[in-house]
Amino acid sequence: MTAAVFDFAPLLPAGLPAAAAKWTGLAKYSFVGGNNDPDQVPLEGLIDAVNAVLKREGRTLATYGLASGPQGYLPLRQFLTAKLKADAGIACTADEILIVSGSLQALDLVNATLLARGDTVIIERDSYQGSINRLTRLGVNIVGIPLDHEGMRMDALAEALADLKSRGITPKYIYTIPTVQNPTGTIMPVARRTELLRLAEQYGVPIFEDDCYADLIWDGQRPPAIHAMSKTGNVIHIGSFSKSIAPALRVGYIVAGWGVMSRMLSLKTDAGSGALEQMVLAEYCAPHFSTHVPKLTRGLRAKLETLMEALNEQFGTSAEFEDPKGGIFLWVKLPDQVDTLKLYQAALAAGVSINPGPEWSVDKAYAGSRLRLCFASPTHEEIREGIALLAEVCHREFGVPERSANIEKRGRA
Ligand SMILES: Cc1ncc(COP(=O)(O)O)c(C=O)c1O
Repeated sequence: MTAAVFDFAPLLPAGLPAAAAKWTGLAKYSFVGGNNDPDQVPLEGLIDAVNAVLKREGRTLATYGLASGPQGYLPLRQFLTAKLKADAGIACTADEILIVSGSLQALDLVNATLLARGDTVIIERDSYQGSINRLTRLGVNIVGIPLDHEGMRMDALAEALADLKSRGITPKYIYTIPTVQNPTGTIMPVARRTELLRLAEQYGVPIFEDDCYADLIWDGQRPPAIHAMSKTGNVIHIGSFSKSIAPALRVGYIVAGWGVMSRMLSLKTDAGSGALEQMVLAEYCAPHFSTHVPKLTRGLRAKLETLMEALNEQFGTSAEFEDPKGGIFLWVKLPDQVDTLKLYQAALAAGVSINPGPEWSVDKAYAGSRLRLCFASPTHEEIREGIALLAEVCHREFGVPERSANIEKRGRA
């Protein structure tokens, strides 16, 4: 006789997210997820680093936090203080950095520190799905600000702030991905960052700056972080090694003043993030990060070019997009009759996964015919084959692209 299986369902508290689906593997042609290029993971360097750091300091693994305290492995925080100063202009000490388990944990800690159900936050209208989902689940009101080719539009932000104020609402923060915005790929120039800070100060609203793609800019030139430009300490800055080294390492960081840092620290109750990853990153990055990144971005740029070529060849003028200045994704507009939520299902059945626009925007109608295509992990050949297959499915489902007009090649500047 087999014992009856215990049923946990009656015990689950209200408000839990829907049950997770079982993982069924990656699609044959996968254009989703912030995955990196497997050929660009600096394996030799990481192997040397793990050997060196374990031989030298391995016994510190016996102590929670590697005897560096609850904010993370000190040499990694020291690497970050130097890197953030050099690249982003951020002058901070190791005490203003908290190492977290991917910047996803940073999102959770910032949200847990600042947000309660019913609060209001301002974000870019098209934004990272993980951020939108978190905010939705927390029951906060999300005000989406449209973007243009320079990122969040300041005229629309000014209007939204004034409107909220007239209704007695002070948003808890303005969340922005200013440096290679996800999903639009825009980079906010300095003048707009200055205006964002001015508006934030005028209305007494802090800025939450998510800079996880800032290393992946083709020409290596990034504007200073908004955190670096603030004179009032009103910016919480987060970053990640997921995009520059490898996402499976799960190492990100928060840069914030002690007032808010100390509150986030007491909410990080996992006794520290994975120690080995932090040790290896510190050991590898201090000597190698600045030579690794340009190699990585050259490879990513080449894949983006393959993707844009494949779209031009397969979709012709039906696929509209801006050539982004960096990152790992392309935000594509298809003709209005294409419903990318439906396209997503049909493409998946054919072995191609894409991110449908409505999952990456707070304006579902606006994003209905848009999609996000990630290009770092597929090979050049998979990119070409996958886009050809996507075009076939899209034509079958929506008559787009029109095969007869197929495919007037267009030049792009
Ligand atoms: C804008 C943004 N923030 C945060 C994350 C989370 O990344 P991770 O937790 O791997 O650092 C991602 C991942 O794609 C992202 O796109």
